[in-house]
Amino acid sequence: MLLLTSIFVTVLLPYVNSDPSTSTSTAVPAPTVGPTKEVGKLPALGWNTWNAYACSIDESKVLAAANQFVSLGLKDAGYEYVNIDDCWSVMSGRDNTTGRIVPDPTKFPDGISGLASKIHDLGLKIGIYSDAGTKTCAGYPGSLGNEAIDAKTFTEWGIDYLKYDNCNVPANWSDAATPPDDDWYNSNSAIRYRRMTAALDAQSRPVQFNLCIWGTANVWDWGARVGHSWRMSGDASASWSYIVSIINTNAQHLDSINFWSHNDMDMMEIGNGDLTIEEQRTHFATWVLFKSPILLGTDLGKLSDDQLTIIKNKELLEFHQDPVVGTPAAPFTPTPSAPTTSTPEYFVGRSLKGTHVFVVNTAANTTMKTFNFANVKGLARGGRGSFKVHDMWTGKDIGKFTGNYTFSLAAHDTAAFFVSPL
Ligand SMILES: *[C@@H]1O[C@H](CO)[C@@H](O)[C@H](O)[C@H]1NC(C)=O
Ligand SMILES: *[C@@H]1O[C@H](CO)[C@@H](O)[C@H](O)[C@H]1NC(C)=O
Ligand SMILES: *[C@@H]1O[C@H](CO)[C@@H](O)[C@H](O)[C@H]1NC(C)=O
Ligand SMILES: *[C@@H]1O[C@H](CO)[C@@H](O)[C@H](O)[C@H]1NC(C)=O
Repeated sequence: MLLLTSIFVTVLLPYVNSDPSTSTSTAVPAPTVGPTKEVGKLPALGWNTWNAYACSIDESKVLAAANQFVSLGLKDAGYEYVNIDDCWSVMSGRDNTTGRIVPDPTKFPDGISGLASKIHDLGLKIGIYSDAGTKTCAGYPGSLGNEAIDAKTFTEWGIDYLKYDNCNVPANWSDAATPPDDDWYNSNSAIRYRRMTAALDAQSRPVQFNLCIWGTANVWDWGARVGHSWRMSGDASASWSYIVSIINTNAQHLDSINFWSHNDMDMMEIGNGDLTIEEQRTHFATWVLFKSPILLGTDLGKLSDDQLTIIKNKELLEFHQDPVVGTPAAPFTPTPSAPTTSTPEYFVGRSLKGTHVFVVNTAANTTMKTFNFANVKGLARGGRGSFKVHDMWTGKDIGKFTGNYTFSLAAHDTAAFFVSPL
């Protein structure tokens, strides 16, 4: 009886901001409220501190990126979010009186709110980072059990975007097995994220919500009910092998992508490592054609003209940000006799303007590529007759073709075409 009473009493306790390591509650509040539709309709365009600086961040680096959005023409191209990743707060713990996470006063002397004002004054938006566990990946305070106070704090500071990571999850909050009926929306993993969705929803400022859940818990099945975008994998690296692997992963979950609903292929590595310029084009173009968030992840001041040309490409960004078509490009078989490649290479997508074809060369040498117009799904007249092929990279028409278009593509490069009937 004593036991029953104590369970009864605990269940009735309201959900309060508590330290999950000390709470004795057995009720797990599992709010069902969805993410705001006021933001996050289109995949985010912006920048994030992590790939460039990891934990070595401060206000001057973040403000430098914001100012470079303006000076390099990135703001005009549509880049909007300037996002702070891990390591921005006091590591030892929350404010002992208010329970709030405290910005590191050395790194952020004006606090996050002071920085947010400066970024807003440039006509840009600011993002922050927390974690659906007790601590962030780098060991700073996490938000599990403190969702309400953290959502309130972030929005009071003027935050517009939250990346929510998946480290330091208490054992009883993880998922040991597949939930009954494969219902991952009701898994512990999803509920940890759903709590933050509800906490954000209770604030007056709309926040774009990114679930950094590393492609676990079948997030593509339920992500849109909880956030605006969700990570499909562990962290990216500046490598061709990462680009190929995330294309393969994402190609299996294209049904999840639409307005307010984006598979996140992770932050950009253009400017980092030793990717060839062709590989950097493929990196950008495949994030574009799958409508992934594109968050630049390098010291913007060091980008070459060639790299800036890639990330500011008008026609690819227009496809990514299309206001009428929310779905991504999807693989197609380019000719009746085309061999099946382990990584899809030919993609067809639609936009406000019409039909686009993207071709990735996964081979390590220059290769001839061909697609028959009759194989391009959705093309006018079933692909019969002549078509104009336009190069989205250069913004120039290539010419008029009948039956197929055949061209040479450099190793690891991606071609991007707008194909219209004549
Ligand atoms: C895990 O344990 C904590 C502390 O007892 C509790 O507050 C929380 O609700 C538990 N989580 C789940 C999913 O049972
Ligand atoms: C809260 O108190 C603890 C223990 O005294 C201390 O280590 C921690 O730094 C304090 N937190 C803040 C944000 O001052
Ligand atoms: C290009 O590379 C592919 C494998 O990546 C190989 O099958 C093909 O023979 C190569 N072609 C040339 C012209 O070297
Ligand atoms: C493409 O069309 C040209 C010109 O009609 C033709 O010669 C060629 O055989 C076609 N290529 C393929 C792969 O169908």
